[in-house]
Amino acid sequence: MNQKRVSRRVSRIEISATKEMPILADRIGGCVSLGQGIPSFATPPHIIEAVCAALRDDPRAGKYSLQTGMPELRSAIASHLLAAKAVERDPEKEILVTVGGMEALLAAILTVVERGDEVLLPSPTYASHIEQVLLAEGVPVFVPLRKEDWGLDVDAMERAITPGTRAIVVCNPSNPTGAVFADREMRAMGDLARRHGLVIISDETYDALVFDGPPPVSLESVAGMKEHVITVGSFSKKYALTGWRVGWLTASPVWMEQIMKVHDASAICAPTPAQIAALAALRGPSSCVEEMRQALRRRRDLCCERLDALGDAFSYVRPGGAFYVMPRYHFSIAPSRQVALDILHGARVITVPGSNYGAQGEGHLRLSFGGDEDEINQAFDRIGSWLKS
Ligand SMILES: Cc1ncc(COP(=O)(O)O)c(C=O)c1O
Repeated sequence: MNQKRVSRRVSRIEISATKEMPILADRIGGCVSLGQGIPSFATPPHIIEAVCAALRDDPRAGKYSLQTGMPELRSAIASHLLAAKAVERDPEKEILVTVGGMEALLAAILTVVERGDEVLLPSPTYASHIEQVLLAEGVPVFVPLRKEDWGLDVDAMERAITPGTRAIVVCNPSNPTGAVFADREMRAMGDLARRHGLVIISDETYDALVFDGPPPVSLESVAGMKEHVITVGSFSKKYALTGWRVGWLTASPVWMEQIMKVHDASAICAPTPAQIAALAALRGPSSCVEEMRQALRRRRDLCCERLDALGDAFSYVRPGGAFYVMPRYHFSIAPSRQVALDILHGARVITVPGSNYGAQGEGHLRLSFGGDEDEINQAFDRIGSWLKS
């Protein structure tokens, strides 16, 4: 027997290039990053204080919480969902606190997707959605976004549906394109899911980071949609809590009872100190979120100006949310992985190859403007010099 045999499930998946590039960069040294989606901001002080005080004064702070999460936190999430998204969910039966949005996504996908089920992924799409569908032994079906604005093409989605289609995983605002899908299109996609009996797994990790208009509709708030949608949220990007690993999931009780089994088998509960941080985030002043959003909007503008200044090297759709832009490059016909490696070695700038996000991402790079303005300027200075060399 080959003791090194790896399961089919795991051998089918890959570590995303988002995480691979920084590892390569570390070996090169002296690189600046337009790569991974980490906002540069420090965790707000009132959140740190709340966690320190709890760790000092409350012995429960270092112990497991209830599996579903601290009751006060679930209630606070329910109030937040109602106020911010007009979503009504019962904190007892329909809200789960998870180890980041990532665990929530995996638990949802493992619960919904059976071996061989087809899952529609608007493409380009978040790389981990692809890997998680593969891990569940599902079949990712890439439905191209509209090229001119990275918008949802609901007609193309309908054409992609077969008797084997089970679910749609959608991320709005979108990583990797930074697009904010129109409410009209989201509702049309919801209607499509209802008509064809599909489950929508709605990744709302970037819900607070919208620059040019109101936040997008949450499909759970649409009449008749609640049963068809499992929503995933995160504290990571909104409150600069990426390292704390805390997120949430909402679903109807029939789904939640099943999802809980996966959560129990994989995580037991989200880290209690991180849950205390999340509670402080929700109860504390929202000005920190607004300040970070404004800073990211300025960085978005800077990133677009710097792309414009590179002339016809790149073309791009101006992002309306999250902190990514996904330009097409015109200075090379090489695959995006090669171009990202060339930029890494030649300019010492980390970018992520578009192919990481499905076939429709090929020919593009994903750039994150989560870093501060100095880092963005330095990265573009270096890319500019490299292009001229
Ligand atoms: C679209 C999307 N979903 C989910 C996640 C996971 O976030 P978390 O840190 O909450 O696990 C990320 C992180 O980059 C993301 O970009």
